[in-house]
Amino acid sequence: MNSLLKRALLLIVTLSVITPVLPSLHASAGEKHSELEDAMEKMNGAFRKLRRQVADATKNANSLELVANLRAASEKSVDLAPKLAAERPEAERPAFIAAYKKQMQEFVAALAPLEAALKANNNAEAEKIVADLGARQKQGHKEFKKQEKKG
Ligand code: HEM
Repeated sequence: MNSLLKRALLLIVTLSVITPVLPSLHASAGEKHSELEDAMEKMNGAFRKLRRQVADATKNANSLELVANLRAASEKSVDLAPKLAAERPEAERPAFIAAYKKQMQEFVAALAPLEAALKANNNAEAEKIVADLGARQKQGHKEFKKQEKKG
């Protein structure tokens, strides 16, 4: 085999190894998930399922597990800060983070009555509380989450 052919082969082999790895390197460099985003993803998984089944009393044991997941992730979120905080003027940042923290603590506090309602098989009440948690999610995102650019 002549040396030109060898070099061409080496180039092909190298490229075939590197190319599939490039997109993931790009993603991990440019779109690193914050700890808060990771906690939010956990909340999302639990909350979506909870919303679907909260009215069904035969699923209350599992619903309580989902609430426990929500609790763990939201308690963790209390001690984290939104990405948006970094974009606030330095003088406003502590108040912004404190307001976020307070709202997240109120979310955590709203889980106790939900647990009580599920334990008491009071699914009508549990449904109401889940709707209220959905409203808290909406409000929290409006105030503290960076809005996605449309278009
Ligand atoms: C049922 C309740 C909630 C659910 C299911 C939920 C879900 C989510 C999801 C899916 C994201 C996007 C994560 C990503 O980009 O990977 C997110 C982001 C975020 N959420 Fe929530 N959320 C909830 C409640 C709240 C509350 C109560 C607050 C504020 C008090 C809040 C504040 C935020 C913030 C600030 C972000 C942006 C993350 C960052 O800045 O690092 N969320 N949430």
